[in-house]
Amino acid sequence: MSVSREPRLRRFLVCEPRHFAVQYAINPWMRPDTPVDVDLAQEQWQALIRAYRTHGHTVDTVEPAPGLPDMVFAANSAVVVDGRVFGSLFHAAERRGESAHYDRWFKTAGYDVHRSEFVCEGEGDLVWTGRYVLAGTGFRTTREAHREVQEFFGHPVVSLTLVDPHFYHLDTALFVLDDTNVAYYPEAFSPGSREVLARLFPDAVLASRDDAMVFGLNSVSDGRNVFIAPRAESLAANLADHGYVPVPVDLSEFQKAGGGIKCCTQEIRS
Ligand code: ARG
Repeated sequence: MSVSREPRLRRFLVCEPRHFAVQYAINPWMRPDTPVDVDLAQEQWQALIRAYRTHGHTVDTVEPAPGLPDMVFAANSAVVVDGRVFGSLFHAAERRGESAHYDRWFKTAGYDVHRSEFVCEGEGDLVWTGRYVLAGTGFRTTREAHREVQEFFGHPVVSLTLVDPHFYHLDTALFVLDDTNVAYYPEAFSPGSREVLARLFPDAVLASRDDAMVFGLNSVSDGRNVFIAPRAESLAANLADHGYVPVPVDLSEFQKAGGGIKCCTQEIRS
């Protein structure tokens, strides 16, 4: 297909994996006895940051804190739309300490943070499409939080139910390609939610279970370039057929914690 896709430059917030480890299990990917190669994790993460900067994106960093091994997953700390910050309330007690560190970053950067009253894991489950929010529930973020998000932003929130524990956050099963389209793995959703997605996005790029199991849907798109796990080969080929440019970035060490590219990336939409 000879469509020429236009990138839009983004501002990302990330957190270096200095204290990254798998020390507890709060999703099916995590095995506390699996050693993490800390040097490799650092190299992989640095390569992601380089890829963003090479493509013109702005990357800000929050200082990592010891004792918070999942703090690298910046996407979970908040969702930011129109310069408004909806801060998370983590499901797992082990992660709740992350909020104070991210709040400090947001406050220093000039943002007020609204703290969610209900369990809510930021961009892990809240995906801004450009016109409304797609909101995952089933494992982490609650429906009460979806209602609070709608009230807070004044943008419509479409609730979607996740049914497969491997895809416990919406951002492991779906990502936004540009202002009009998404890619997703249908079987991660309840039948009704699948129907909703099919109605909203009749031309969506559909991914296979193999693509999803290598975190191919935990990707970041700037509208043209798609930063994607290299093992998601058929999804990458499919995206290329649709005129997108796959940029492979391997975050295999982070998959041991149930995370990938998008999990490590929070978008600041001012
Ligand atoms: N170990 C983390 C957790 O289970 C991984 C978070 C992944 N983040 C994401 N946005 N899907 O909470």
